[in-house]
Amino acid sequence: MLICLLIWAWFAIMGIGGFTPQPMIRLFVPADLGRLLHIEQQSFPKSPYSRTTLIQLFLLYPETFWVYVDSTKEEICAYLVFSGDGHLISLAVHPSERRRGIAEALVRKAMKALPVKRMRAEVRRSNRVALAFYQKLGFQVAGVIRNYYGDEDALVVQWKPVSSREPSPASGVLS
Ligand SMILES: CC(C)(COP(=O)(O)OP(=O)(O)OC[C@H]1O[C@@H](n2cnc3c(N)ncnc32)[C@H](O)[C@@H]1OP(=O)(O)O)[C@@H](O)C(=O)NCCC(=O)NCCS
Repeated sequence: MLICLLIWAWFAIMGIGGFTPQPMIRLFVPADLGRLLHIEQQSFPKSPYSRTTLIQLFLLYPETFWVYVDSTKEEICAYLVFSGDGHLISLAVHPSERRRGIAEALVRKAMKALPVKRMRAEVRRSNRVALAFYQKLGFQVAGVIRNYYGDEDALVVQWKPVSSREPSPASGVLS
């Protein structure tokens, strides 16, 4: 009986395929700045946030500025910052960590945490990858902001739970 218990405990701790450390989503701290600036430059080469902007975001949204840490590498591989009224201000995943469900995990956690059940974001019209990402999560195009980035329009994408969606003439499924 004791042996069975020990074997069960071994598999429970190590996992059937070996030890699989869990990724962690935690609050941003200023010591993360260097790594975030790197992710920012890799992710938004045309207009990366500066150190000052990231610090301002931290001061404004200390509870909703999150980083995703890969515990195997003990390294931050993504971040998300959003406001309590559901404005997704920035989201980026390091290029080498993309297409592993990291951004989806971050945004789904934010959707659950938000007191208001809606979320919106601005996306460069040419950012097909981000638009495909938001489409996967059920966002719809709700409008356009002309010249939002100086050199390009933004599409405003928004998400609401299916039950609270009302038809809007401006809205459309992402294509
Ligand atoms: C957009 C971004 C955040 C997606 O991050 P990610 O961790 O790679 O995304 P996920 O792995 O969670 O992808 C979830 C879904 O989004 C869609 N998607 C993500 N990347 C895609 C790609 N390159 N092509 C097509 N669809 C894609 C897929 O439907 C994917 O689900 P699947 O892998 O089961 O098919 C990432 O590409 C990024 O940081 N881009 C640069 C910064 C940026 O554009 N940020 C958003 C600005 S608003």
